[in-house]
Amino acid sequence: MKIAVAKGDGIGPEIMDAVLSIFNAANVPLEYETIEMGKSFYDKGFSTGMSPLAKETVEELGILFKGPMETPKGKGVKSINVTARKTWSTYANRRHFRSLKGVDTVFSKAGIPIDLTIVRENIEGTYGGIEHMLTQDVALCRRLISRPGSIQVHKFAFEMAKKEGFKKVTCAHKANIMKLTDGLFLETFYEVAKDYPEIIADDIIVDDLAMKLVSRPQNYEVVVLTNLQGDIMSDLCAGLVGGLGFAPSANIGDQISIFEAVHGTAPDIMGKNIANPTSLLLSGLMMLRHIGLMNQADTIENALLRTLELGNHTGDFGDKSKPSLSTTEFANSIIANLGKAPAEGVTRKSNVPSGFHLPEKPAQQRMMLGSNRQEEQVVGIDLFFQSSENGNELANKLLPFSTNGLKLIMISNRGTQVWPTGSIYTECVDQYRARFEMENNQVTSLQEMLQMASQVGAVLSISSIEILRTFGGKAAYSLAQGQ
Ligand code: NAI
Repeated sequence: MKIAVAKGDGIGPEIMDAVLSIFNAANVPLEYETIEMGKSFYDKGFSTGMSPLAKETVEELGILFKGPMETPKGKGVKSINVTARKTWSTYANRRHFRSLKGVDTVFSKAGIPIDLTIVRENIEGTYGGIEHMLTQDVALCRRLISRPGSIQVHKFAFEMAKKEGFKKVTCAHKANIMKLTDGLFLETFYEVAKDYPEIIADDIIVDDLAMKLVSRPQNYEVVVLTNLQGDIMSDLCAGLVGGLGFAPSANIGDQISIFEAVHGTAPDIMGKNIANPTSLLLSGLMMLRHIGLMNQADTIENALLRTLELGNHTGDFGDKSKPSLSTTEFANSIIANLGKAPAEGVTRKSNVPSGFHLPEKPAQQRMMLGSNRQEEQVVGIDLFFQSSENGNELANKLLPFSTNGLKLIMISNRGTQVWPTGSIYTECVDQYRARFEMENNQVTSLQEMLQMASQVGAVLSISSIEILRTFGGKAAYSLAQGQ
């Protein structure tokens, strides 16, 4: 089988060469098609960070093993890492955090073993990267959470738990505040959980999770989160087991999957042959298991564990009274330990591969639609506009637009109601929202709402609009704070 390999930037080539040398020594039956992605391609003027040939190769082979890649700072260029995950719909980011012998942490010293997996939704949320300046003072980032996208990631978490013998899956969220977005993520979690009665499903508010991961990490097995919350919690978990150098990452899609280290290009140590290849190696082991090479993965993992328990280490961790090994020496010590058993070997030995198959080129982009679609009705409009006037002055300008059953019901600033009631202590910025709703549950047409918006646009500087709808008679929008 052939896979695509992109060595990446900074320390990428050094750690990738180290990992592939271990794979070769362990007779991993893979061929590697090296592709160019990252800095060198930005430098050649490709704003996407990869050539059309690299894209074609990954789409044909279905597996990309990649080193870290630099995103040039400044405007106009998107992160190649995020672009790759999104372009190829690798919707689930799986990261495994496990205490390793020889990697001292507060928990290992206290005798508390850690073995937990984070499944992070990988392509939605704030990482949609849909951002606008609404005024010169106010920026907006749209956080999209979709029903099909949430269902995909929850299914992945439960399927993984079922195959690999996990007993509990926990959904972390902020649905107490973000009732529609995180609410949808949570609702779909319990919908999916119904198909897995043998697995305990529970949920926790994400800030509470942060505290409990630090105080009682052993209480969690698999935690599934939205994108940004998952990103932050993953790094917290990396800290629990010794840092980013020990955190592997798999970006899983139905067709294409990407395996990469969690850390970046470490430009401060590049070219010195001192980088720690463990994170990339562990990601590579997730890849081997993904494509069904279970035995080879177990052999290499045991060799790594043996190497660590012997106290071998690169400069970024381990017992400082023992000299640090270079990247190459560390890889060679793993090679020397191939076939040897550590005191604590591979713990979870699933013989069930993920069901990977080479992707068939889809005829067109797939449209995913949620089931149970309900009747939709337009019942109002939120107009976002720029102004430095106060709520009462704005109400005087907007009230004349309350006609034909449409009524101005509130004005808010940064989500807090400032008219018809509000507090004199609410500080405002130059960006308001006016909400118009149809009276007495009447409905209206989208066209009428847009005409009304265009009339308001002649009086106030509108920056964006949202249509208020009901789905199955239920309001599909949130209230303002204080409304
Ligand atoms: P970084 O992870 O590259 O470095 C942070 C610190 O950790 C540095 O002191 C570095 O020397 C150390 N470090 C990281 N990996 C190490 C390893 N394997 N062995 C020993 N020490 C290691 O994060 P930073 O500096 O924020 O980002 C540098 C570049 O990497 C940026 O261009 C960023 O965009 C990119 N990046 C790429 C990622 C990816 O490809 N998935 C992920 C994160 C950052």
